[in-house]
Amino acid sequence: MIEKFYYQERILKEVITSDRHWGGYFVAVENDEVVGAGGGGMIAETDGELFVLYMDPNRRNEGIGTRLLDAITQQQKEEFHARKQWVSVQKGNQKGIPFYEAKGFVYEYEQPVYENQEGDYRSLRYSRFI
Ligand SMILES: CC(C)(COP(=O)(O)OP(=O)(O)OC[C@H]1O[C@@H](n2cnc3c(N)ncnc32)[C@H](O)[C@@H]1OP(=O)(O)O)[C@@H](O)C(=O)NCCC(=O)NCCS
Repeated sequence: MIEKFYYQERILKEVITSDRHWGGYFVAVENDEVVGAGGGGMIAETDGELFVLYMDPNRRNEGIGTRLLDAITQQQKEEFHARKQWVSVQKGNQKGIPFYEAKGFVYEYEQPVYENQEGDYRSLRYSRFI
């Protein structure tokens, strides 16, 4: 996952670009340090998706992830007219699933994480109306 999605060149490009399909990175900054980051984009006419949301592990459960999600959701609703929002979570990710369930996301279905991927990684699709 890190090799595929989070290598430096790709992140740099994603930091400076944004459009309907990738709304850009939203970051939580304290004393010039990024303590959390997230972003999403549209996957259909009125369906948005949260693609990325990570906190510094030492700064979880302080409400920062909620504020990042709120900002991304506001962008998807106001700029892109989203009515539904999706997120994929790796099966068994107990650091992510309770958060999304607390935010009103409901389990929809299970799918392989990525085609041709080795190993038994499954991802769970969740959605909520926004
Ligand atoms: C998921 C993550 C981004 C959330 O950010 P955060 O700043 O820790 O979350 P917040 O403090 O804003 O909110 C925590 C919410 O989740 C709920 N929550 C968190 N852990 C929970 C648990 N184990 N059981 C029940 N609820 C839980 C809290 O009740 C709270 O809900 P509330 O705002 O309605 O009270 C962060 O924990 C993280 O980086 N996790 C690891 C990475 C990850 O799994 N990312 C998702 C990849 S898809």
